[in-house]
Amino acid sequence: RRLVVLVSGSGTNLQALLDEIAATGAEAYGAEIVAVGADREGIEGLARAERAGLPTFVCRVKDHPTREAWDAALAEAVAAHEPDLVVSAGFMKIVGKEFLARFGGRFVNTHPALLPSFPGAHGVRDALAYGARVTGCTVHFVDDGVDTGPIIAQGVVEVRDEDDESALHERIKEVERRLLVEVVGRLARNGYRIEGRKVVIQ
Ligand code: GRF
Repeated sequence: RRLVVLVSGSGTNLQALLDEIAATGAEAYGAEIVAVGADREGIEGLARAERAGLPTFVCRVKDHPTREAWDAALAEAVAAHEPDLVVSAGFMKIVGKEFLARFGGRFVNTHPALLPSFPGAHGVRDALAYGARVTGCTVHFVDDGVDTGPIIAQGVVEVRDEDDESALHERIKEVERRLLVEVVGRLARNGYRIEGRKVVIQ
């Protein structure tokens, strides 16, 4: 299976996938990363891809006259690599109709909270501010909402009294990286069906 991974930041989830595939071998893992895309230049996630010798592309909203034009350009850039599965690993843009028309049902996102709680760009901060005693991460298929698609897997992380946002996010990411590696491998190796809100992995 061919994976395209989309990033916007440090790319540690991407790195976890790269390390797993390097350790296990693409054959045994069931997938290889064929390209990495981003919505901005100069991020560590792109540097990680370059260090791994992978093709990269950047699709910036401000380079396009409209949001729809950006969405179509992003879909084109991803499609050029003929992915079987697209993985959003800290990609911080909401894709639109064109992208979902082409990749819906094979576009996976990881979110650092237990959806449906705390969707959006500040899930860790929101859980902390709310006083949640446990939070975690969710790997789900992307649909036309924000963090609302069918859930594939979740991991629970305790919130500690001394936590600030970055400490809690780091602890969530330790669980999240393992969950993403495990889920992407299973989807790639076994195949899956989406039945309403349920995801069935063969
Ligand atoms: C991850 O926790 C992801 O869920 C969130 O941003 C973080 C990205 O981390 N959207 P990285 O770029 O993979 O290190």
